[in-house]
Amino acid sequence: MDFKIQAAEMDGLAAVSADALVVVLAGDALPKGLDAAVAKQAQAAMKLGDFALKAGQTLTLLQPEGLKAQRLVLAAAGRTTLAAGKAALAAALGQLKSRGAVSAAVAFVGFAAELVESLAEQAALVGAEATYLYRHTKPSAPAAPKLAKLALLTPKADTKAARAGLARGEAIAAGITLARECANRPGNHATPTYLGEVVQTLGKTHGLKVEVLDKKAVEKLGMGSFLSVAQGSDEPLRFIVARYEGAPKTQAPVVLVGKGITFDSGGISLKPGAGMDEMKFDMGGAASVIGTLRAVAELKPKLNLVAVIAACENMPSGRAIKPGDVVTSMSGQTIEILNTDAEGRLILCDALTYVERFKPAVVVDVATLTGACVIALGGVRSGMYASDDELAAELSAAGEAALDPCWRLPLDDEYEEGLKSNFADVANVAGREGGSITAAKFLQRFAGKYRWGHLDIAGTAWKGGGAKGSTGRPVGLLTHFVLGKAR
Ligand code: BES
Ligand code: MN
Ligand code: ZN
Repeated sequence: MDFKIQAAEMDGLAAVSADALVVVLAGDALPKGLDAAVAKQAQAAMKLGDFALKAGQTLTLLQPEGLKAQRLVLAAAGRTTLAAGKAALAAALGQLKSRGAVSAAVAFVGFAAELVESLAEQAALVGAEATYLYRHTKPSAPAAPKLAKLALLTPKADTKAARAGLARGEAIAAGITLARECANRPGNHATPTYLGEVVQTLGKTHGLKVEVLDKKAVEKLGMGSFLSVAQGSDEPLRFIVARYEGAPKTQAPVVLVGKGITFDSGGISLKPGAGMDEMKFDMGGAASVIGTLRAVAELKPKLNLVAVIAACENMPSGRAIKPGDVVTSMSGQTIEILNTDAEGRLILCDALTYVERFKPAVVVDVATLTGACVIALGGVRSGMYASDDELAAELSAAGEAALDPCWRLPLDDEYEEGLKSNFADVANVAGREGGSITAAKFLQRFAGKYRWGHLDIAGTAWKGGGAKGSTGRPVGLLTHFVLGKAR
């Protein structure tokens, strides 16, 4: 999708020539200052009962009288919020994309001036979302939709804000698309090796320093916990480190750590067969870190960012870890593996120890970590944990601003009780209760040397059912969070 800003006043929309003029209407009454010809069409449609100013309603008119555009698409937001504006545009583009229009000109009318930048950002996301189609292993997928150009109609006074929002949105959209593509590719395509190659390529195109470590190097580092998960699989592991340097080396970096289980069978603690295919999405954390890295590298903020990904498969085999096995993590802490399906924490703990070397300003890990988080928060908000209130507030605010929300869960020490082991310093699982929290408590033991945040994205990184696929979340949240660290 190709995006641009086009100068236009909201009372002059009739003069805009485009295949389709999309007018997103805020609120539950026709906004003041709306172009008279557009208002006339809307009023007529409302009178006939074909259109109402209610969230989700859209109406397409062909060659409407008094307008230059070939089509007029009215989209009601119902309210005046950013989220409502986004949803209305998504509904309109959903209609348009399978028709004949190549270019759309979009106007948001009746929204507060403070929302100009965020609306422009969201327009880029919606445009990219409407036209993304997975085809890597599906040659029969329909041809790309005709809709390929989106002009954001912007009053002169708002140009600067709209430009900034559009640039951020385009970068985030590219990051989301990359994350979705990585996560949607099946386990036999999106292997740890493949993830390493994706980051190498990103490094070349965006001038990043990239290191991809293999098993030998990981052994040298003493990552006994990560290695133990990988040992059941014939697919070689990768430990990926990429550095974006936008500030002097003396400035402490933001570090993102992603869970990159390219397939989670559960290992010897095998998962049930139904829906097991969805565990190809168990590298959603890694995918979102890669997507965020791309977005940040494109926007070039003044900060340092390190992206770290632990990638391997979790498979049963004669060499796989068994319930009861005890392994020694890079931190020196021993871990009793009571359930081989709690493998995400076993690879992340070593990554969390590894990143101490960067003397980070803050570390945020991202993982499709627990089914318990899906039960708690569903697919709306990611689970969020933070070592301090300020960090929690920053992550929350980033999620709200990006419309990629999260919700803080607690880290009381009482939740750690169940992780006690008679045979090791810590067990890798506690009981069923509070499963997302006990997983976070496990990770916290390895993240004591810096400010630390943790996102459990098991419910938000992908969708099941008919629309099965990766969402690209939480690239939006993470990009906003990282950009907030620029000086
Ligand atoms: N990758 C899964 C978590 C998951 C479950 C993500 C459902 C998305 C949807 C993780 O490795 C896992 O298997 N966790 C176990 C932990 C349990 C054994 C303590 C779980 O949640 O069942
Ligand atoms: Mn698992
Ligand atoms: Zn997993």
